[in-house]
This record gives sequence, structure tokens and C-alpha cells, in this order.
Amino acid sequence: MAVDLSRLRTDYARAGLDERDVDPSPDKQIDRWLGEAVAAGHPEPNAMMLATVSASGAPSARVVLVRAHDARGLVFFTNYDSDKGRDLEENPVASATFFWVLLERQLRVTGRVARISRADSEAYFRTRPRESQLGAWASRQSSVIAGRAALEAELAEVRARFGEDDGVPCPPNWGGYGLVPDRVELWQGRPSRLHDRIVYRRAAPASDTWTIERLSP
Ligand SMILES: Cc1cc2nc3c(=O)[nH]c(=O)nc-3n(C[C@H](O)[C@H](O)[C@H](O)COP(=O)(O)O)c2cc1C
Repeated sequence: MAVDLSRLRTDYARAGLDERDVDPSPDKQIDRWLGEAVAAGHPEPNAMMLATVSASGAPSARVVLVRAHDARGLVFFTNYDSDKGRDLEENPVASATFFWVLLERQLRVTGRVARISRADSEAYFRTRPRESQLGAWASRQSSVIAGRAALEAELAEVRARFGEDDGVPCPPNWGGYGLVPDRVELWQGRPSRLHDRIVYRRAAPASDTWTIERLSP
């Protein structure tokens, strides 16, 4: 390999994380860390690496942007016919990771995934810039296409289809999913690789009671 990666090393020393510091509610703790990443001016603070698994057990990971965190879970938007959409329809579970390097933090969330309501997807779609709305119609996400020109031709066709002054409706195969956590792990980098790891786990399926434990780094 042209670049020697074996000697790259960062010692993390910014902050510690104690069991007593964390909120008893993992949802409030997720909000706190998301808020701190935004306040720190972190690039793409809402970007999470989302891992899904197909029916045959093939894993797949990619970045998506979280647009809300509430009773629906961590909400992201995508094309339901994409590879990730197919995985989630077949196997509605996911594991997601945020890495906020400026804060020396990783947040890991694992849980169940469900589509949000059609009305909620349409409401969010209306807030997107018009070009993104047109792009959602033009893209058959994850399909093989002949070339860049095919995509641009599709966009031109979509642009002609929706008049300049008309609103662009939400494509039927586009919308949101919510990831509702069953396991939430906070990781704070510490010196000498003795990192702090605090994990929340649901006491039982669908229970609102959580255990909070420390894991060895
Ligand atoms: C910073 C960043 C943000 C992204 N946000 C989204 C998103 O919110 N929704 C989405 O469908 N794809 C998003 N993507 C593209 C995905 O990573 C991925 O390429 C695409 O969804 C197709 O994935 P799939 O073929 O596994 O379904 C984003 C990529 C990056 C790098």
C-alpha cells in the first residue's frame, strides 16, 4: 500500500464519561449528544452509518442523514426500493453509528426499523429544496444505469413533467424510516485506549425500563 497506516495514532483526552453523568433515558442522552455535536460545529453532525442485513444474511452499511429523533425513533429518509429499503422490508432491524471525531465520541444504536407514516413522509418532502424533490423522482436508487447522461435525461424528463409553478409531490417509493433503539452505547475516547463505554439495554422487549452498564474498552 502506498500510505503507511500502521503508525497513525490519536490519543483521546478531551473528556471522560461517568455512569453518573449520563441521563437515565437513552433518548434524552442521544438528544444531548446530538445537540453537543451540532453546538461544536461538527461537520455533518447528523450523519450516521447505517448497517442493514438482507434476508440471506448479507450485511451492508452506508451513511444516511438523521432528520428527526422523537417517538418514531431516529428518522431518516430514503428510496424504499433501494438496496437498504429492500433489506429493511425483509429484515426490519438495523445498527447505526455516529462518529464525532471532534468530540472523540462514538454513539452506537441498534434496534427495530419501521416506515414512518405516509403523511409524515409527505410533510418532510415538502420542506426539501425543489431540486432535491426532482432528484428523488429522477433517481432509481441502487439500480445500475447506463451512465451519467441517463440520470440527467431522467432529471430533464422529470423537470418537464412537473410544471415550473407546481409543487412536486412525494414519490410513492420515497419516505422515512424510524430506528427505535433496543441498545444504545456511548463511547468516549480516553488516554491509553482505556476508553469509557456506557451501554443502555432494554430490560425486556418493548419495555421502557433500561439497564445501564459499563463495558470494558
Ligand atoms: C454524508 C452523506 C449523507 C447521505 N444521506 C443519505 C440519506 O439521508 N438518504 C439516503 O438514501 N442516502 C444518503 N446518502 C447516500 C447513501 O450513503 C447511499 O449511497 C444510498 O442511500 C444508497 O444506498 P443503498 O444502495 O445501500 O440503499 C448519503 C451519503 C453521504 C455520504
